Amino acid sequence: MTPSTNRDETTAEWYVRFATREAHGSSALYEEWALGIAGDATLLRAIDTLPAPRRQPALLFAVSRLLGAPELGFAAWRAWVLEHWPAMHDQLLVRLTQTNEPLRCAALLPVLAAIPGPIALLEVGASAGLCLYPDRYSYRYDGGEPLHPVTGPSSVLLECTTSGGTPVPAAMPTIVWRAGIDLAPLDVADAADVRWLESLVWPEQTERLERIRSAVAIARADPPLLVAGDVTDALPTLAARAPRGATVVVVSSGVLVYVARPARERFEATVGALDARWLSLEAAGLFPSVVAGIECATGIGGNRLAGRFALALDGEALAFVAPHGQRIDWLPHPN
Ligand SMILES: C[S@@+](CC[C@H](N)C(=O)[O-])C[C@H]1O[C@@H](n2cnc3c(N)ncnc32)[C@H](O)[C@@H]1O
Repeated sequence: MTPSTNRDETTAEWYVRFATREAHGSSALYEEWALGIAGDATLLRAIDTLPAPRRQPALLFAVSRLLGAPELGFAAWRAWVLEHWPAMHDQLLVRLTQTNEPLRCAALLPVLAAIPGPIALLEVGASAGLCLYPDRYSYRYDGGEPLHPVTGPSSVLLECTTSGGTPVPAAMPTIVWRAGIDLAPLDVADAADVRWLESLVWPEQTERLERIRSAVAIARADPPLLVAGDVTDALPTLAARAPRGATVVVVSSGVLVYVARPARERFEATVGALDARWLSLEAAGLFPSVVAGIECATGIGGNRLAGRFALALDGEALAFVAPHGQRIDWLPHPN
């Protein structure tokens, strides 16, 4: 979910954009709620009392469901929200969009498998850390033979389609250490944290919910090292804790869009100064080197990158990917 970066956009316009461009085709309920809000002066006034980043549609809807709002049509949901607005308001001030999607590992794996290991995996913006277990999930690329963890088939099977020269992995990477940073790490052993994680899954996405529940069980069996902190400030200290001899791979997926440009540039400089690789799955337009690489390889640039996600290694664009990792379109090599 993309935060609104357009200062000229009203809240009503933001909700219409969310309904038509994000929820349409993915969640009929969120589409209905968003369009309802866009035409509802009372709710818009309430939402506008929040700081702009806190007016985010998906955040508002997740918070309402966390607090027990009925997953019913707009009229019933609206009545509940108005009745519970003080509690909604309090939660909206503290909650972050922390959607954790293990399926993104399917997009990361082809690159991870090609990096000489053993690997020390460090994710910035890790949420509950479900993307720190790429070697514990099973994968099926393009409907072919599944690739399993060395210990055998996983309860989580990640399906992904590919195109171009995607180097579909034949073996799992060896991951010897896993750690993450998040402003507010979620604890897979904490029922309230897991409830928040589940509230962030859109209502009709039952397959996703099942996947997250199974991934939570895997993470619970061997909980990740997660530290509270900022993507940049906490990075050097945590990276220094990686075991000697391992290749540190810093992963950022779906997080840097929430970081303002100057801080993003600071992150890029900090990760670049580490003895580490940087694997990113982020909005395609976020980093100039990624934008330039895509343009050089495909001729696609400017506004045509809006809404698209790219996989990049050390700032070099490798592929377009679906935001949740379910598709990889490998870029042709530039001449
Ligand atoms: C949308 S979630 C993505 C989680 C995970 N990377 C994934 O792909 O499933 C973004 C996460 O980044 C965290 N986050 C946002 N800004 C951050 C910052 N400046 N420093 C650390 N974490 C941050 C949020 O708390 C949230 O858990």
